[in-house]
Amino acid sequence: MSPSGKSPVNHRANTGGTEKKSVPNTIKVTLNGAEVSGHPSMTILELAQEHGIDIPTLCYHPQLPPIGACRICVVEVEGSRTLVASCHTPIAPNMVIHTHSPKVLEARKVIAELLLTNHPDACIVCDKSSLCEMRKIATDLEIGLPRFRVKKRYYPLEDVSPYIIRDLTKCILCRRCVIACREIKKANIFAMAYRGFHSKVVVDQDQVLDKPDCQSCDVCISLCPVGALAKRDGEAASEERATELTTVE
Ligand code: SF4
Ligand code: SF4
Ligand code: FES
Repeated sequence: MSPSGKSPVNHRANTGGTEKKSVPNTIKVTLNGAEVSGHPSMTILELAQEHGIDIPTLCYHPQLPPIGACRICVVEVEGSRTLVASCHTPIAPNMVIHTHSPKVLEARKVIAELLLTNHPDACIVCDKSSLCEMRKIATDLEIGLPRFRVKKRYYPLEDVSPYIIRDLTKCILCRRCVIACREIKKANIFAMAYRGFHSKVVVDQDQVLDKPDCQSCDVCISLCPVGALAKRDGEAASEERATELTTVE
């Protein structure tokens, strides 16, 4: 099965010029038993989304480069020894992908359960409320009582900034805020620090967040999938703002 030749137009690769010279192509893969085609630069997640298949994501956001931190988006690729993260794995010719096999569902469930076990039981009073992406994933995966017992991390609430409150006890270390502040706001205020259980999103040398750049900016708040970042006035980031960031291309 050759991927070259008379393929349909490649919407991404061809940016103008003579059409005949446009670099190929489509890649044929088998997605949940159906033969489908995608563009060479596509990730498995993008291909699945194009075909209406819902794969849960937490660190991934369409406005950000792939981060690959949470692994909730894993899928099974035949021939691969391990499950792969669909948000940053490109499709390849003749790949056979299973997005909802029993192995995949169990792995996602374990990942989500571990995140939840580490998370405070404060959903009822959390400002993120129904906008919490982790809560939605837990519901979709039908996660019940926790099967694991892990040590929880607790941090004092950071409410020094006049613009933003950080509650790192709720942080799931997805790193969206780190990348968003660097790539969208261009302020580069956050960084990852420490290792393992002590991993943390820090400001400078692990100082509390109190930066003038945050005035009139809620980029990181809007993109945080849980309730770890909030506006100083107590409002969660608006759904409109999150949608705006998602749809601006
Ligand atoms: S509010 Fe804006 S400037 Fe402040 S940390 Fe978040 S993204 Fe960066
Ligand atoms: S504060 Fe929010 S966006 Fe930043 S790493 Fe934690 S969960 Fe992710
Ligand atoms: S969404 Fe793919 S690794 Fe987090």
